[in-house]
Amino acid sequence: MSQENIQQAKPSAAIIMAAGKGTRMRSSLSKVLHEVAGIPMIARVISATLQAGISRVVIVIGHQSEAVQSCVQKLFPQADIRWAIQAEQKGTAHAVMCAEEALYGFEGQVWILSGDVPTLGAELLANINQEYPTHPLVVTGMKLAEPKAYGRLLKDQVGGLYAIREAKDCQAHELKVDEVNAGLYRVDAQLLFAGLKTIQTDNAQGEYYLTDLVDFAYQQKVEIACPILQGEQAEQLEGVNDRIDLARAESRAQAHLAQKLMRAGVTLLRPETLRLSESVSVQQDVLIEEDVTLIGHSQISSHVVIERGCWIKDCVIENGAVIKAFSHLEGAQVGSKAQVGPFARLREGTILEAQVKVGNFVETKKTRLEEGAKASHLSYLGDAIIGSKANIGAGTITCNYDGYQKHRTEIGAGAFIGSDTQLVAPVVVGEGAFVAAGTTVSQDVPAHSLALTRPQTIHKEAWAENFHTKMKALKEQK
Ligand code: UD1
Ligand code: MG
Repeated sequence: MSQENIQQAKPSAAIIMAAGKGTRMRSSLSKVLHEVAGIPMIARVISATLQAGISRVVIVIGHQSEAVQSCVQKLFPQADIRWAIQAEQKGTAHAVMCAEEALYGFEGQVWILSGDVPTLGAELLANINQEYPTHPLVVTGMKLAEPKAYGRLLKDQVGGLYAIREAKDCQAHELKVDEVNAGLYRVDAQLLFAGLKTIQTDNAQGEYYLTDLVDFAYQQKVEIACPILQGEQAEQLEGVNDRIDLARAESRAQAHLAQKLMRAGVTLLRPETLRLSESVSVQQDVLIEEDVTLIGHSQISSHVVIERGCWIKDCVIENGAVIKAFSHLEGAQVGSKAQVGPFARLREGTILEAQVKVGNFVETKKTRLEEGAKASHLSYLGDAIIGSKANIGAGTITCNYDGYQKHRTEIGAGAFIGSDTQLVAPVVVGEGAFVAAGTTVSQDVPAHSLALTRPQTIHKEAWAENFHTKMKALKEQK
């Protein structure tokens, strides 16, 4: 994951709350492990935090803690991530209390975030730091036409924030407040841990509310900043609670990625139909038609054309290659100016060198086609190496599997494999050899020779004419 730092003033740490069950997702998978643009939500929040220069991160886990931990450790092997276990979820203040030990002795600013805000960007955190470098408490808010279940921001006569009231605890007039708590805070460590000790559970849900920290800070006459985020910035803090929110976050992330590509010089015929993973890279002057999926760690070099309906995962596609419509590629390398498809399927371990042509209804697996080789139609090429400029005719099949093991086929440079050939592996066809159409090759073919297993064609003069005459007569008798 990218950890490019955005400079910031004070030492800071982050607590990411991710212990909740996420019941509304109705899922066997922990909510924070659901992916947005190919990356688990929790990993997206961690990335934003690290990119904002917050290097000390504590994640509060509870529900499915092992799964969350192993996913994060795999994605961020280098980061200074500590874990706090909240075995029983007694509320957001309780979650943060659980993280106290992991931050023992830390004296800077502590960001508190939720693990379910997948479109949060590092710039937002940097902007808050820039605007409020020294406030001991920053609470981010947003203005909503329908404030629903969000905590309401209650302000005094001079506009100072003095409390956050959860919707379930609000009186009627408080429910009308349209400025709500976005759930992103920055608080000085000392204030935080002193304040947490005072929080009680005397509320509608009987939980320890982190939001009660505001009452404490107000009573202590601490300066509280409360920026009200708008538009795109407010959207970044929209949490995911169910699959509808998840789909909305996905389309926001996709729109963002598509815009990034277009700004970098990629033409997208219909950006709203492209599906990308965060880890895909696409160079300048690539043309992508509609309904394309580009996921995993795919790398697309400049001047590549990807026609409509292609599905591409973990592939490297070099300069000027053309992937024609409705091709399916996974774990393949496509060399420069190669042509693939339409309707081709390149599977794991396929390597096409420069100017190779793989046409319609050709399937390849663990196969290398060397420079300029062609397999233009209807073939299966598995566990094979096909030499430079060899020509594979329509209907060629490498019979690579005997029911127990896979075997290799080698075809030399410049060889010509006639249509409807079966190559019974292991087998070698030498350089420049010619395999006649319809041959079953079960022995090695020496270089520059002809291989042919074709029974003689029998001709019977006037047979067809006689046959028709006889059959028509029979039909008329009935
Ligand atoms: C919280 C805020 C609310 C705010 C909203 C913004 C409180 C009391 N309320 O409400 O003012 O408008 O966020 O989205 O803080 N979690 C734990 N352990 C717990 C409880 C929660 O780790 O014991 C985690 C959840 O997994 C989640 C996050 O904390 O990632 C927020 O919890 P949630 O229950 O969704 O809070 P809200 O009710 O949305
Ligand atoms: Mg809740």
